[in-house]
Amino acid sequence: MNKITAMAPANIAFIKYWGKQNENLRLPVNSSISMNLSGVYTNTTVEFSHEFKSDEIKCLDKNFNHSEKIRIIQHLDRIRKLAKINLSARVVTRNNFPRSVGIASSASGFAALTLAGSIAAGLNLSPKELTILARLGSGSACRSIPDGFVEWLAGNDSESSYAYSLYDKNYWDICDLLVLVSSKAKHVSTTGGMEKAATSPLWPNRTAQIPTRISQIKLALKDKNFSFFGEVLEEECLEMHAVMQSQNPPLNYWTDETKMIMQMVGGWRRDGIAVYFTIDAGPNVHIILEKSNVELIKNKLREKFSPDQMIVNNPADGAHLISESLF
Ligand code: DP6
Repeated sequence: MNKITAMAPANIAFIKYWGKQNENLRLPVNSSISMNLSGVYTNTTVEFSHEFKSDEIKCLDKNFNHSEKIRIIQHLDRIRKLAKINLSARVVTRNNFPRSVGIASSASGFAALTLAGSIAAGLNLSPKELTILARLGSGSACRSIPDGFVEWLAGNDSESSYAYSLYDKNYWDICDLLVLVSSKAKHVSTTGGMEKAATSPLWPNRTAQIPTRISQIKLALKDKNFSFFGEVLEEECLEMHAVMQSQNPPLNYWTDETKMIMQMVGGWRRDGIAVYFTIDAGPNVHIILEKSNVELIKNKLREKFSPDQMIVNNPADGAHLISESLF
């Protein structure tokens, strides 16, 4: 059968996914909105063959641990079931960013695996079906399939929980300046962490107001109203982290450097520069800004951070096939 390679970007959530209505199906409690990132991505090659005795799974930049391998094999099983094949697979994958720096690789990883794996298995899934399959591997992975700016509809069953492109990558010249900070915090998986979301006393308030916030961010996107957009995305980030920090047991992904960058962003804004931050499940800070301000902010960051700690991301396409094969 064919050997297929796909590339998929990581994405940054403007409206966050934190909490599931169904663990097995990875159905989120609320819809979420994100942007694909041009500078952080995963390439994955998949081949199914009679020649392989069992699934062979390899990550070129860092070995997968046992539970990561199991999760990938479970995803291959979903693909085999859909394609009605019984062949073992070889999967070789490479992230262009070190997984140890705390950037989640599950979104780009499961999106690339879904696209390459489904085609290698002979399936011809629609864009919507691809997002549903990717979601079963890791929720946020469904948002790395469509292009540009993406909404994942929460839905109430597997069919109705899918992602689609709101706008393509050329719609708006905004950037995500990702600052990598050293992580000394103990890593807690997002899957395990979000199981406890509803134990936070802030949870009822979050679920009540999230539909309003989704409407606000969509309106800001539609009008390209950057300051409104930034205010809403920062409020959303702070609320998700307040939920994390007040759940039982509490979960705190921030380090001193994370907090320092949040304060720097606030200071620059008081100086009249339109910059905002958002943070996913890790210590790294995504500074969201207009393209015209990227060099200015990079220069300011250089007082505290080295250039190799900064990754400039433009809005990017979603998962797509590439010709370069990893084996
Ligand atoms: C904080 O998609 O990694 O980044 O579905 O359990 O694999 P699983 O979770 P995952 O969660 C991402 C959570 C987040 C917010 C977001 O990306 O929306």
